[in-house]
Amino acid sequence: MAKDYVVKDIALAGYGRKEMDIAETEMPGLMALREEYGADKPLSGARIVGSLHMTIQTAVLIETLVALGADVRWASCNIFSTQDHAAAAIAESGTPVFAIKGQTLAEHWDYLDRSFMFEDGPNLILDDGGDATLYVLMGARAEAGEDIIPVPQSEEEEVIKAQIKKRMEASPGWFTKVRDQIRGVSEETTTGVNRLYQLMREGRLPFPAINVNDSVTKSKFDNKYGCKESLVDGIRRATDVMMAGKVAVVCGYGDVGKGSAASLAGAGARVKVTEADPICALQAAMDGFEVVLLEDVVSSADIFITTTGNKDVIRIEHMREMKDMAIVGNIGHFDNEIQVASLKNHKWTNIKDQVDMIEMPGGNRIILLSEGRLLNLGNATGHPSFVMSASFTNQVLAQMELWTRGDDYENKVYVLPKHLDEKVARLHLGRIGVKLTQLSPEQAAYIGVTPEGPFKPEHYRY
Ligand code: NAI
Repeated sequence: MAKDYVVKDIALAGYGRKEMDIAETEMPGLMALREEYGADKPLSGARIVGSLHMTIQTAVLIETLVALGADVRWASCNIFSTQDHAAAAIAESGTPVFAIKGQTLAEHWDYLDRSFMFEDGPNLILDDGGDATLYVLMGARAEAGEDIIPVPQSEEEEVIKAQIKKRMEASPGWFTKVRDQIRGVSEETTTGVNRLYQLMREGRLPFPAINVNDSVTKSKFDNKYGCKESLVDGIRRATDVMMAGKVAVVCGYGDVGKGSAASLAGAGARVKVTEADPICALQAAMDGFEVVLLEDVVSSADIFITTTGNKDVIRIEHMREMKDMAIVGNIGHFDNEIQVASLKNHKWTNIKDQVDMIEMPGGNRIILLSEGRLLNLGNATGHPSFVMSASFTNQVLAQMELWTRGDDYENKVYVLPKHLDEKVARLHLGRIGVKLTQLSPEQAAYIGVTPEGPFKPEHYRY
């Protein structure tokens, strides 16, 4: 049989497997789900297309989905985030995977297309940033002769359109058929979730969606504590720069911004924050960070990190003002937070993979990380296993919910119920020796909960 995968080097599988074995010891939530549901195989019949960074942690997620009975095909959701040994281990295990660190954009969309190629088509999507959902919906619109949805990462638009055209020519009607048999999508990240709510508001969401990002045990942990560990890891692996004493600017103080600012402060940098939201700006100030305008610090700071999920945050006029050898990077989902396209006519010197030095017209140089793509996954290995276990336990619960109870859901965006959020947290306590206080029935009644939880009302914000 022809090989049904694209990886850098299948010989890396042994190395990948050893790291997966270690990761499993740090991913108690996923391992508990294997234990609890492995025999019943609740995902039997599910054909899941996954579009999410192909890392060691994701490999453990994939094997959990398989252990629960699913057929899985996988692509990475970013051209730089794949860990080639993880992809090799998954390919060797027999699950088709299409991902290489440093793949081109055209390959990226081709690989995503291949991850859809189940014999009978997929019936569930597990998405990170929304590319897999976007691909199906844009293709179906194109088949209906409608304008396709504008793409947030606009420079990719031509590549995506070309890939859609290719598929339409090869298999007429394919996108519409796939769209109609998808039972639902679970979405990993803030940016992808924003896209889903937009589709829902416009009445264009054709299947139910579970917003995994806004499980408390996802965004308040992965986005925050994950970035707290992986941001500085990425900057160090890329540049080996001394962090202590440097002035770092974090654009955005949402969950990722909070973790990023803490990461840099923990490494001894003097951190300043920019924000558009008065609540987050006040939080930043009361956490001890000076809240500034980018324009006022752009010529004096050493390190600039975008965390906003917004576009054009660091623009060409900012980069022109930066001092020599300023480091510029993004940890938000898409690369359009930094105006990288406007640097194309400048002199680029590649230092090593995912690290470039760019000369500005005034003679100053900047160091750009991962060409503006999320640097914790481009320059380092993303978040540690333990925090990804919480995120991915939510993902597996969401997939099970969509597969076994999908008919109960309308074509809307949902978050998982609080008792499942609490379950995810609970599964991670033992590994770090946390002891929970048991409420007496009287105490529980006094604060209006039951001793088993949920412990908070829906409006509670953590
Ligand atoms: P969030 O919505 O909690 O925070 C974003 C913040 O940026 C908001 O407070 C907003 O007011 C602020 N903001 C927007 N435009 C701004 C501007 N022009 N200047 C300054 N501040 C601005 O979102 P969250 O969860 O922090 O996610 C941010 C991005 O990071 C998203 O794209 C998300 O998908 C991505 N992400 C990346 C991860 C990684 O490992 N690299 C992990 C989790 C999320």
